[in-house]
Amino acid sequence: MMTRANEVTPINSTLGTAVAASNVQRSFNGRDVLKGVNLTIKGDEFVALLGRSGTGKSTLLRILGGLDADYEGDVLVPQRRAVVFQESRLIPWQRVLANVVLGLGTGNGGRAALKARGLEALGEVGLAEHAHDWPLTLSGGESQRVALARALVREPQLMLLDEPFGALDALTRIKMHALLQRLCARHRPAVLLVTHDVDEAILLADRAVVLVEGEIALDTRIDVEHPRDRSDPAFVELRNRLLKELGVQEVDARPSLLHTASDVETEFNNRYKQSFR
Ligand SMILES: Nc1ncnc2c1ncn2[C@@H]1O[C@H](COP(=O)(O)OP(=O)(O)O)[C@@H](O)[C@H]1O
Ligand SMILES: [Mg+2]
Repeated sequence: MMTRANEVTPINSTLGTAVAASNVQRSFNGRDVLKGVNLTIKGDEFVALLGRSGTGKSTLLRILGGLDADYEGDVLVPQRRAVVFQESRLIPWQRVLANVVLGLGTGNGGRAALKARGLEALGEVGLAEHAHDWPLTLSGGESQRVALARALVREPQLMLLDEPFGALDALTRIKMHALLQRLCARHRPAVLLVTHDVDEAILLADRAVVLVEGEIALDTRIDVEHPRDRSDPAFVELRNRLLKELGVQEVDARPSLLHTASDVETEFNNRYKQSFR
């Protein structure tokens, strides 16, 4: 069932489509931030949205999430959707399980069934034993796993992720990538992942879209074989193309920058690859 993001009335679904956005425009105080964005996402497609800071990525995501109705254009999205932000946005005075099921109606099965659903989602992110903990006792990675559980429990047809791993350390990020891949394989929602990490986009997505100053400058399928390997020539070629589109000049200098999260991650993969196979 599809609905306009800024309306509550559901309209008939275009089968197999999770996002149909056409000519989306948004301005703030007379400044055009989105300048006519067209974006279609299929029902089980994973799209990475890349762009430099301030290009309108979060603005677009918020519109698709129904969190900002003040746009022009047409946006159709499913009614069941969930948003995960860079910060987990857990309510500190509610325990973990209560945070996961927050705002959900009890439905036919009552409170017990709701609790069971919440616990199941927590189990899927490996945190069932933390159900009765307070959010502030969790690590950053654990908090983001709770945020994923809170999204999952809504059985979203569309998951909107706004730099969900941006604040995590490199090793936690690797684990989160694997977890997200498992969850997506099992539940098959459509996903829009906002990231400024090109490697993260290529590792996880089916398609990469680059937003440059409020317009889609590149929209490409990611044709890299699974399991994806950063040293695969197709990976390297696409990385260079995306970096160029993002205006990053120092493509060749990249491997020497060992302090970035991606480089630590590459190093980790190179050293410990065997133990994962
Ligand atoms: N509520 C708002 N009021 C005024 N300006 C905003 C608002 N939200 C976003 N902007 C501006 O719109 C531009 C794009 O923001 P955003 O979508 O957050 O960028 P990104 O997520 O790509 O970094 C920025 O210049 C930002 O300052
Ligand atoms: Mg943003």
